[in-house]
Amino acid sequence: MNLLAIIGGTGLGSLKNLEITRHQVVNTPFGEPSGPLTFGTLGGSEVVFFARHGYAHRIPPHEINYRANLWALKEVGVKEIIAVAAVGGITPRMGPAVLAVPDQIIDYTYGRKQTFFEGELESVTHIDFTHPYSGAVRAALLDSARTVGVEVVDGGTYGCTQGPRLETIAEIRRMERDGCDLVGMTGMPEAALARELGLEYAHLAVIANWAAGKNGEQEITMEDIDRTLKEGMRKVRLILQQLLENRATAG
Ligand code: HPA
Repeated sequence: MNLLAIIGGTGLGSLKNLEITRHQVVNTPFGEPSGPLTFGTLGGSEVVFFARHGYAHRIPPHEINYRANLWALKEVGVKEIIAVAAVGGITPRMGPAVLAVPDQIIDYTYGRKQTFFEGELESVTHIDFTHPYSGAVRAALLDSARTVGVEVVDGGTYGCTQGPRLETIAEIRRMERDGCDLVGMTGMPEAALARELGLEYAHLAVIANWAAGKNGEQEITMEDIDRTLKEGMRKVRLILQQLLENRATAG
């Protein structure tokens, strides 16, 4: 079975039932990852856990060293990645505490190191990104969610903003016109870098709040986000546990 990594975002700084076997610090040609990798078993299956924002949750989305993070995972033999991410909901089916496995991405970020293919290259490389997420990892997530009876929206477009501030009402209106269903800050360049390294990658998005202007004029507070994420992450843990049990059975 391919080695799987779970990247935890806001609200998922650790995996409660993970039996930790070891931590590994990985140095990369692109600098330091957000922290050491945590190896362990969950549901009878080996898994690598990694906290995108660092274990103390101190690295903001625009300062994450995405290249070092993905490189480190590849370096230790990871082949598949489930990236958990807190997002805002834009379209009607994406309300607070809903889970989604998006199938498309629009990238609004800027100034991030977004490729491994630069500098002294032997040739120019353009990865295919028609379908930005791994079909196999998406299917495994949706299948496990079905088994444990957690409703998950299958599909949707994830719009990635620069952050760390949240968006204006007009920005969300524009994103909705563009076709975005969800808005987050960490999905890119993470997904593209995974593709560049040949890693199978999919998002499990947890909607923390209605995006700006989608709940009347109401402002978005961190307290509301944290409260909703608690409920959402409970469902995430159920899905991940099932998915790892399935992998253990499959051998
Ligand atoms: N916008 C961007 N990122 C987010 C949001 C949001 O409303 N909620 C959680 N992550």
